[in-house]
Amino acid sequence: MTIQWFPGHMAKATREVKENLKLVDIVFELVDARCPLSSHNMYLDEVVKDKKKVIIFNKIDLCDKKETAKWKKYFEERGYKVVYADAKNSNSLNGIIGEAKEELSEKFERMKAKGIKPRAIRSMVIGVPNVGKSTFINKMIKKNVANTANRPGVTKKQQWLKLNKDIDLLDTPGILMPKFDNQEIGKKLSLIASIKDDITPLDEVALYLIEFLKKYHFEDFKSFYKIDISKDSESLEIMQAIAKKRFKLIAGDYDYDAAIKLLIQDFRTQKFGLITLDKYEDMLAHED
Ligand code: G4P
Repeated sequence: MTIQWFPGHMAKATREVKENLKLVDIVFELVDARCPLSSHNMYLDEVVKDKKKVIIFNKIDLCDKKETAKWKKYFEERGYKVVYADAKNSNSLNGIIGEAKEELSEKFERMKAKGIKPRAIRSMVIGVPNVGKSTFINKMIKKNVANTANRPGVTKKQQWLKLNKDIDLLDTPGILMPKFDNQEIGKKLSLIASIKDDITPLDEVALYLIEFLKKYHFEDFKSFYKIDISKDSESLEIMQAIAKKRFKLIAGDYDYDAAIKLLIQDFRTQKFGLITLDKYEDMLAHED
């Protein structure tokens, strides 16, 4: 079974994002620091085209910083501005405003030279579900919001939040699904809860997670569940070991459903440590 990647409401959301993009000077794309490449919308580059972008690696508190730093470099080498954020816990997201101003300084200088009256930078937040867009917007406006203003939008009246005198932010984030043809990316997006569990084959996601943990975090994984497994154990065998250890048999069989849910939940609550799912070296190997 494959994951249904692009439900109908996503197509509508994508259309809305395209409309809203016309209104802004700069886009803050939020990605999940645990998989910056998989949660980044490559399709966005085509849509955004000449708009400036800052990629925000949010949930930096949850990732393996050493691994994620490689992705920062990867994006920077491709001309992106990258900023780390922990929108849930941090109160200092103000650096991001500075980055936006820097990115747009030339454009605004050109406008000034042409005698165009100075105005605030218009920005919007965009990203796949659950990367923290709403949390980020709320944090950004928490202290700074002075007022909101209505400005005619394309599809409807848009609410603009004033972050400071220099920058406005569209109050609704743009929700997009990444464009991809790769099931592995889907499994990662499921693990970070970007794709809803009820449309996901969670058994495949859990088996993928076991493979990943076996390969990269074997000792933490094994010691967390206190199960007797080796790196050569089959994924299904490992799932059985977890089910056996933690749950009662159901009609004489292992409770796979419970084990699957447990594994995914334990990943989402960092029981195996701080993990980055996108592995830079793996991607390089795929490129060869
Ligand atoms: P979205 O708009 O992109 O869909 O995401 P949203 O802001 O709703 O955030 C999704 C979840 O991610 C929320 O958790 C939120 O608290 C959490 N989150 C956002 N930013 C960060 C961050 O930088 N670090 C961490 N650790 N978590 C973050 P939730 O469990 O759905 O809600 P709640 O119980 O935290 O309120």
